[in-house]
Amino acid sequence: MKSTSSFGALKGKALSQGNLLTLLVISVFACFSILLLLFLQEEEDPYINKSLNLHGSIDNGSHLFRMNCVGCHGISAQGLVGPELNNVTEELNDKKIINQVVKGLTPPMPSFEMDEQSMADLLAYLHSLND
Ligand code: HEC
Repeated sequence: MKSTSSFGALKGKALSQGNLLTLLVISVFACFSILLLLFLQEEEDPYINKSLNLHGSIDNGSHLFRMNCVGCHGISAQGLVGPELNNVTEELNDKKIINQVVKGLTPPMPSFEMDEQSMADLLAYLHSLND
């Protein structure tokens, strides 16, 4: 009688240790997956990251805007075919704005190809429109 019950206790202990190990393995795996995902997201778009890290010139941005955007967004960004862009940087974060400009996600707005510095300039200009 005595030996059976202590065997039972032993078995129970072994099982819960097994469960603990499984749990540990799963959580370590989960942590690694999350880290990997974060890392991949950081690496995801070097163009965006570089544009965001450059210091933009409002003057150049204003020039680029007049060359490329006023036809649809208006000379003072008041909106024509495209929506008004004053205060757009308060509604969309910089990443979203870059995607909007380079990816052509919403026709009829075309996608633009510009180097990272020009993108930084354009962003600086859009930020300067906030009142
Ligand atoms: C051919 C016309 C056209 C040109 C040129 C154009 N856009 Fe647009 N743009 C649009 C239209 C139309 C939309 C609205 C798309 C939609 O339905 O979401 C838009 C949307 C946007 C938005 C999102 C606004 C919001 O509130 O969601 C941004 C930012 C933007 N344009 C920036 C620019 C910039 C910067 C340029 C110049 C590099 C540019 N656009 C050139 C037509 C144009």
